[in-house]
Amino acid sequence: MPLMQWTQAMSVGLEELDDDHKVLIKVINDLAANAGNAARRDVVRQCLLSLRRYAEFHFAREEKVMSACKYPGLDPQKIEHRDFVKRIQEVTSRFDEDTTGSVEVVNEALLSFLKEWLNHHILIEDMAYRPHVERSAEAKQAAKAFKASEVWWSQ
Ligand SMILES: [Fe+2]
Repeated sequence: MPLMQWTQAMSVGLEELDDDHKVLIKVINDLAANAGNAARRDVVRQCLLSLRRYAEFHFAREEKVMSACKYPGLDPQKIEHRDFVKRIQEVTSRFDEDTTGSVEVVNEALLSFLKEWLNHHILIEDMAYRPHVERSAEAKQAAKAFKASEVWWSQ
């Protein structure tokens, strides 16, 4: 039984952003499936890196979409996005510092934080922009046009 599952009730009205959320859910499920298993330390680390990288990509795309339809709640979303990425960076640093071979950093508390954070992000924060993006051709265009290079290789 996976930790999280995407359902139609989580749809925010744009396929690209729904697909991003599905990827984030998959990475968190992979993390949960391997957490606590010292023999899978490399996999756990890869999940943490994937989570940060994909979250950065998704947040950048989401911010472009919100900006394209002049969504008034963009600034608070940006703060939440930065805080989340920072939190994952901190967790990854602590994980790397733990040289005992155990995977205690990725524990039940962290997994339930990730689950609750993403549920809240999708069902409350993102759902609030749904009516805005649905009636905006610019938002749809921004979602389709967004490229990974805009977040990573331009920095
Ligand atoms: Fe989102």
